[in-house]
Amino acid sequence: MDFGTTNSAVAVLEGGEVSLIPNAQGAHTTPSLVALTAEGDVLVDTAAERQALTNPGYTPRAAKLKLGTGWRVTRGDIRLTAEDVAGLVLARLRQDAEAYLGCPVTDAVLAVPAGFRRDQRAALVRAAGQAGLNVLRLINEPSAVAMAYGPHRDDCTVLIFDLGGGTLDVSLIGLGDGVVYVKATAGDSRLGGDDWDLRIVEHLTERVRRRHGVDLTGDFAATQRLREAAEAAKIELSAAHTTPLRLPYLAIGPDGPVHLEEDLTREEFETLTRDLLERCRTPVERVLADAEHTLADIDRVVLTGGAARMPAVGDLIRRLTDGREPYRGPIPGAVASGAVFQAGILTGEVKDMTLLDATPYSIGIETNEGTTTKLIERNTTFPTKRSEIFTTHTDHQPTAVLHVVEGEREDAARNRTLAVLELALPPAPRGVPQIEVTADCDANSILHITVRDLGTGNETAVTIDQATMERAAALLRSSRWAGLRGLAPATQAF
Ligand SMILES: Nc1ncnc2c1ncn2[C@@H]1O[C@H](COP(=O)(O)OP(=O)(O)OP(=O)(O)O)[C@@H](O)[C@H]1O
Ligand SMILES: [Mg+2]
Repeated sequence: MDFGTTNSAVAVLEGGEVSLIPNAQGAHTTPSLVALTAEGDVLVDTAAERQALTNPGYTPRAAKLKLGTGWRVTRGDIRLTAEDVAGLVLARLRQDAEAYLGCPVTDAVLAVPAGFRRDQRAALVRAAGQAGLNVLRLINEPSAVAMAYGPHRDDCTVLIFDLGGGTLDVSLIGLGDGVVYVKATAGDSRLGGDDWDLRIVEHLTERVRRRHGVDLTGDFAATQRLREAAEAAKIELSAAHTTPLRLPYLAIGPDGPVHLEEDLTREEFETLTRDLLERCRTPVERVLADAEHTLADIDRVVLTGGAARMPAVGDLIRRLTDGREPYRGPIPGAVASGAVFQAGILTGEVKDMTLLDATPYSIGIETNEGTTTKLIERNTTFPTKRSEIFTTHTDHQPTAVLHVVEGEREDAARNRTLAVLELALPPAPRGVPQIEVTADCDANSILHITVRDLGTGNETAVTIDQATMERAAALLRSSRWAGLRGLAPATQAF
């Protein structure tokens, strides 16, 4: 299953062949939308999409990007978190699959952006649980694309560039002999086609303000109409050089009704969005640097995701890769198709493919009151498990406090806090206790941390999710934090 920011898809492996499963309307993708109506009903997918224009306040977009946050939408007695929205969309995909297959569906492989954080991954697994699905595996979206592109070829290095509605994923992947080997992965979890739409909306809002003296920013209904028109215009500009924007009766101004009549050229659109395009460059440069590859090492370029159809994106990738002509398909539902191969590997149906995926961020702990000591370096193939011995920082330290962080900075405070664990210690001079810290990144890229006092055998363990991150963030803000003492590398001389 591919739970996308804007569109979702589900596929199945039948007799070694991938089939994309049509929804009740016969389409191969389903809008990732849920709506709350005034009558107290909850609508899903196409039904939600159809009424989005008249009910924009209660048809939240891009729930995927809000996974793992406290975001919610409330109407009357109904209150949905991002996890609930994801659960409802996944339940719909499950129903479509059951209708297609004529049997119950209980297990799934789910695709996630490679740059998804641990808490976002954990939230999606829980959402699947709400939809009655057991998650066999989370697979990174670009890795899934590589599986669908096909590893049965001569050894080659492929750059996968996936720009969807809300996220950008870039991976440098080695393919050959049935193996998909992720060499490096990077992305921007806050960049997608929706951002290009918003630029058009801002541009039109400004035009209306200047021409008619009407401020549309607080006008939900007008903004929703502008958004839909903006997305349609953006898509049209992938093929045409100019597109008309006609929105009669957009609002009422001091001089009567405001009718929007504009033409947008591709050139204007590209000027409005130049900085967004620039942001696509960073992850490409980063995967090359991380994998210690040069442009000459790239054999093929695969562009996927709806927003990668914008001509400017194709041009940028061509420029960045020394004129290589990107391959754009035909991989319908590339992500869902790739996920299904992973499902086949796990159930034993697919025997001639292997996926070796890599972690997008380094995992470390804070030592010596401020430094990050890395346990798992970024772009390590997972599943992986690393243990290291640490010791106390001060004499008779009552607890060992383990501050677990994710990121590349040396200064621990500038990395993302994942969890804080505390382990009680018997009194001992500093440097004497032997404290083993284990970071275990499982096959779903979910992280388990264990801290163990080798002297007493006492241990504490957590699985990183939103709750551990929130608890840790609260502790770091509290006055208690300053009084706690962490760990030091065991090799350090005192
Ligand atoms: N021909 C086109 N030209 C430009 N943009 C397009 C075109 N077709 C679709 N899009 C845009 O692509 C985006 C949706 O792409 P896609 O379905 O790949 O995303 P998604 O899987 O829902 O999101 P994500 O992978 O980020 O979670 C939308 O912003 C849509 O407007
Ligand atoms: Mg996608």
